[in-house]
Amino acid sequence: MPPTVLRAIPVAALLPYAKGVRPTFRGSDDVLVVLQYWLQEVKVVADAYSAHLFATDAGYARHVGQLNVLTYLIEHGDANHGNFLVSRSESSPRVFSVDNGIAFAFTTATAGTPGAGCECRNSRPTRSIACAP
Ligand SMILES: Nc1ncnc2c1ncn2[C@@H]1O[C@H](COP(=O)(O)OP(=O)(O)OP(=O)(O)O)[C@@H](O)[C@H]1O
Ligand SMILES: [Mg+2]
Repeated sequence: MPPTVLRAIPVAALLPYAKGVRPTFRGSDDVLVVLQYWLQEVKVVADAYSAHLFATDAGYARHVGQLNVLTYLIEHGDANHGNFLVSRSESSPRVFSVDNGIAFAFTTATAGTPGAGCECRNSRPTRSIACAP
């Protein structure tokens, strides 16, 4: 996951970009927002998991393993196209989960389209992954 933080931003500062935005909490003039580092040199792919790369590139396999653990632990439930990005690096490409809004107890919402993106909700590592140096 790219670096992601919660911030409270004054309504007045957001209004030019988000018409009709209102304070998150009664008695406050702030809106609670999530800010996330914008990744460069990444691509949106139909499936972030490549069986071939997983078998042949230990660095990529490690990153997929990390993504797998993260999405499993947070009960990630949104495998929509574009929610998983892959770096353009030729070797050991990293995989990122950028849209984690449906997670933990948020189970009533749409759970994503099976087969799109990277179906992580029910995935388990199929082999142990050696740590890259
Ligand atoms: N941190 C990021 N760095 C680079 N690209 C990003 C980042 N966050 C989102 N994107 C790009 O913007 C697209 C939309 O982002 P996101 O999935 O968070 O929005 P969304 O409104 O939930 O869209 P959707 O409903 O299609 O999932 C992503 O598919 C990705 O291509
Ligand atoms: Mg999304």
